Amino acid sequence: MKERIEKLLAEIEELKAQKEQEIEEIRIKLIGKKGVVTQLFDEFRNVMPEEKKELGQILNKLKVSATAKIEELRQLLENEPQAAESEYDLTKPGDRLELGARHPISITRSEIISIFNKLGYAVAEGPEIEDDWHVFGALNFPPEHPARDMQDTFFMSTGVNPVLLRTHTSSVQVRAMEQMKLPIRVVCPGRVSRNEAISARAHCIFHQVEGLYIDKNVSFADLKQAVLLFAKEMFGENVQIRLRPSYFPFTEPSAEVDVSCNICGGKGCNICKGTGWLEIMGCGMVDPNVLESLNIDSKEYSGFAFGMGVERIAMLKWQIRDLRLYFENDIRFLKEFQTSV
Ligand code: DAH
Repeated sequence: MKERIEKLLAEIEELKAQKEQEIEEIRIKLIGKKGVVTQLFDEFRNVMPEEKKELGQILNKLKVSATAKIEELRQLLENEPQAAESEYDLTKPGDRLELGARHPISITRSEIISIFNKLGYAVAEGPEIEDDWHVFGALNFPPEHPARDMQDTFFMSTGVNPVLLRTHTSSVQVRAMEQMKLPIRVVCPGRVSRNEAISARAHCIFHQVEGLYIDKNVSFADLKQAVLLFAKEMFGENVQIRLRPSYFPFTEPSAEVDVSCNICGGKGCNICKGTGWLEIMGCGMVDPNVLESLNIDSKEYSGFAFGMGVERIAMLKWQIRDLRLYFENDIRFLKEFQTSV
């Protein structure tokens, strides 16, 4: 009997269970009404009195360890997370990653740049936080020019050559003339800031692409040809351009460029306000004063410059009526511009 008990004790040590039901079976087998331990207790009644003390002790030990083992198996099972009850369902399909799209301003900027790349223009970039000299001084703005007004320009310091947020990327043209070897043929894309009240037609930040071409014998006819080629690439082969005399401190003569309205084909609609024409950029021949202030001999060299607002071109391209849409990042708006560009 002693040997059977010891063998059972060893077996109990090794017991394992994965399910509630298995534990119940073990319990019945060991300490159930007809279980082995219960049977041993029955047999114990008949053992010789001199053996009772020793056997009684190990028999009790057997019952205690059988009960303890069953309890231990129950605890283990309870603490172990059940696959079916787990909060993670590993068989579920994963979350889909939504593919983003390029912003309409980025798409339009790339398109403008690639048109001018084809015409031989390189890209030049410069700082958004600039000084007065690069934004105004070198571009022939007299000291009292209203563009320098606090109402128009965000100044970041005062003094002789104050630091400010550039109001146009013409400052990059100045940097190109300071740094590059002649001839120069560049486009300057970038963000600009002006102290404007935000509305459907104006914002305090927007984007420009400006261009500059300086070489010997550059004429107004070359400027007109470059502008026409750009307009055709951007708005279609049938587009027409018109140049209206204008004024910029850094160009002389200066002009505003209109394209025939791509909505009504020039007949007149509410987009072109009945005129048949849409304004797209400013341009002109670089003022000799600008060339001279940057140590370029204006007797030998001449050049033209132009500048356009990217938001405006995108508005005309897609008939976007409110400038604020570009900055609000409403996904419903951005999703309309799925493109591979
Ligand atoms: N800088 C002008 C503006 O921000 C646009 C412009 C006009 C740029 C004529 C030029 C230019 O380079 O020649 O309104």
